[in-house]
Amino acid sequence: MKDTYILGIESSCDETSASIVKNGTEEIATVISSQIDIHKNYGGVVPEIASRQHVKNITIVLEECLKQANMTMDDIDAIAITYGPGLIGSLLIGLEAAKTLSFIYDKPLIPVHHIAGHIYANSLVKEMKFPLLALVVSGGHTEIIEMTGHYKFNKLGGTLDDAIGECYDKVARVIGLPYPGGPKLDKLAAIGEKTYKLPVPLQDDSYNFSFSGLKSAVINLAHNEEQRGSELNKENLAASFQDVAIQSIITKIKKAIIDKNIKSVIVAGGVAANQGLRNAMENLVTELNVELSIPPIKYCTDNATMVAAAGYYAYLDGRRADLTLNSKSQDKLC
Ligand code: KG4
Ligand code: ZN
Repeated sequence: MKDTYILGIESSCDETSASIVKNGTEEIATVISSQIDIHKNYGGVVPEIASRQHVKNITIVLEECLKQANMTMDDIDAIAITYGPGLIGSLLIGLEAAKTLSFIYDKPLIPVHHIAGHIYANSLVKEMKFPLLALVVSGGHTEIIEMTGHYKFNKLGGTLDDAIGECYDKVARVIGLPYPGGPKLDKLAAIGEKTYKLPVPLQDDSYNFSFSGLKSAVINLAHNEEQRGSELNKENLAASFQDVAIQSIITKIKKAIIDKNIKSVIVAGGVAANQGLRNAMENLVTELNVELSIPPIKYCTDNATMVAAAGYYAYLDGRRADLTLNSKSQDKLC
């Protein structure tokens, strides 16, 4: 069978990225231009600045990606684009670039949901075996999704309020860590002890999550310690928070694996980079005798490699968009 080369484009937040992937599994070239150094001056992503940076970077990133792959647009079979969810101004820049390339070079345009991208980061690592459960943990999402085949998604549960990554970032800020706080909190947790008592959220029979109560508990605790004039032990608070947050995720994914008699689990999204979660998932799959796939860190946070991989399976599934495709700041995967 002829090889299929997909050009993926991702610009949903603060990374401008382009990637070429062969047959949904083999990375040919990827370029990521990160804006972290700019946004960290503001303690978080400033949407207007992000959009302007994407405008500056998009053509450079695309040209560099083709150059690294030693390919031209003639070698590309289709263009996969993250149309949403994300920051609307950021999404629009990638989308307009994708639509322009699709129009000029007469290539099919494949719409990719950002979360499908995160999930398909796993196909770059291991063959995906169905049925599987995808634990999606990112800055904007915390969901358990069942997949019965390629591009067949069924949401079992999700967060009722904050996403896990959002909660990590807010707690990190309370502790005084610079943006992006999640990875720094993870490092701090590794050297701390679980000395602070925090409430384990939503211990019910659903597959849902809740992180706003946990976040408020940390904020209140920090506030009370400050008022008492006692110094917060940052490492220990990080360790205590991470323990409860991960415990809450593990309880729900464990229940879903058992209830659905699932033999294969994947983890997706930026928080899949979390070392505590990676260790806890390893222990869980050993206990339940289930296969686990977690992408390497470089595929966990936003990148176009995952978008190109997802785009391949969307392409096989017959998904196409025309030039009326618009960005969506919010959109459900399923
Ligand atoms: O998937 P992603 O790059 O963007 C979204 O689609 O939301 O995820 C970003 C989120 C941020 O909240 C970031 O703090 C978090 O992932 N994150 C982590 C770690 N690495 C990234 N959270 C905890 N531990 C980490 N090691
Ligand atoms: Zn993401």
